Amino acid sequence: MSSLNSMLHLGLNLHGAGGHSAAWRWPGTNPNAFFDIEHYVGAAKLAERGLLDAVFLADTPAISYDITHQPPLNGLEPTLVLSVIARETERIGLIATASTTYNEPYNLARRFQSLDVISGGRVAWNAVTTSSPATVANFGGQEIARADRYRRAEDFVETVRALWLSWGDKMMIADQATGVYADQRQFRLLDPTTNSFGIRGPLTHPASSQGHPVIVQAGGSEPGLRLGARSADVVFAAAGDLATALQEAARLRALSRQFHRPAAPLILPGLVTCIGGTEEEAARRKEQLDELLDLERAMAALARSMGVAVEKLSLEGTIPQEILPDADKVPFSVGHHRTIEVLARQGRTVREIISGVQAFGHRLIVGTPEQIADSIEAWFRAGAVDGFNIIPDVLTDGTPAFVDNVVPILQKRGLFRKEYRGQTLREHFGISIPFELARAAASSPL
Ligand SMILES: Cc1cc2nc3c(=O)[nH]c(=O)nc-3n(C[C@H](O)[C@H](O)[C@H](O)COP(=O)(O)O)c2cc1C
Repeated sequence: MSSLNSMLHLGLNLHGAGGHSAAWRWPGTNPNAFFDIEHYVGAAKLAERGLLDAVFLADTPAISYDITHQPPLNGLEPTLVLSVIARETERIGLIATASTTYNEPYNLARRFQSLDVISGGRVAWNAVTTSSPATVANFGGQEIARADRYRRAEDFVETVRALWLSWGDKMMIADQATGVYADQRQFRLLDPTTNSFGIRGPLTHPASSQGHPVIVQAGGSEPGLRLGARSADVVFAAAGDLATALQEAARLRALSRQFHRPAAPLILPGLVTCIGGTEEEAARRKEQLDELLDLERAMAALARSMGVAVEKLSLEGTIPQEILPDADKVPFSVGHHRTIEVLARQGRTVREIISGVQAFGHRLIVGTPEQIADSIEAWFRAGAVDGFNIIPDVLTDGTPAFVDNVVPILQKRGLFRKEYRGQTLREHFGISIPFELARAAASSPL
């Protein structure tokens, strides 16, 4: 539970050009930002200047929508981007999304463990099950039901964790004088009959100083919540209003107690920010961004995400209750849909919903740095969240606006760090090193 004994945690989502769908058209932004490594490195350096916990890369291994009027979200493979960012930064955490449906556990475990070592223990894996139909066409053409994806995910995540722990923490000897390199009896091999992938291990090198990468989970359906409660250190959510966020947090924390977790996962929803020096400036910026939106396309995307025919929606109309899909019928992400549902139930028009939700279903605040800080503080003090993954409307100028104007307010209020205390992402998040390693260390005679 958040308390003022703990600090806020803040990540920066590197959502291509930014969280607003028209970000790529904003003056000063490279329209090709989604595959421009300098764009990503520049934003990560700004985030580190703001002492943020981590940068975060979403990922879908497919072109998921019509790109006639909007570039893809992120194009470059995230662990490759983060290995470049690792060399260009010193302390900031590095979170990459990778799908449990479209990867094999050994390759994924190895890739993330290598990145964790390369970066000095700054890495997290955002485990997602991926629902984009376009992805299906790149991996055999068979659609996999949500329940089956999550069944695989549970085994997948625990198998990856076991692989990350497959090198005993005291097995390295590397004695050049005696010629003894390692005590390989200390490999912690997996029993190939107890994971559904038939994997034995071990991985190809030892762990980083943080034990193994932090595990993040994104996906707000019931099985998604269970996966987060059981296996994740951090949950990346999409939360539309405080009441719903409080309910979700209570549910996640109760589930994590059922799984006998010593601490509940940190909850860090996405938050799209549109910042201006004054309220009027912020509103004007939002209006200018919205003017660059293709509303018909945005309405089609909204209809698709809800699984309803676009003809049932009109820009100035509200969304009738009877066409709002049940949670288990949402085609893509239940977590994302909840934010849209909150606005629909408030009787907002389709135009207002499109304008009030950005970055595929995350809550948006338009305001001054004080107003943004107030909202962050209110949710944190209410115990609904442990912080946020900030998604600036436009990364190029929205990131410095947050780092240079909102962060100092949070610091002044005693809510956010004034310097990095640790080197690893676990230290930034205040997450203990993996249980098994801690237990092994406690029972060791040394
Ligand atoms: C906040 C949030 C972020 C997500 N990010 C990704 C992502 O980057 N890549 C991806 O394939 N799926 C992502 N997902 C979707 C889920 O992993 C997955 O596709 C799932 O089936 C839908 O999630 P649900 O449990 O919310 O229904 C995200 C879901 C949420 C709620």
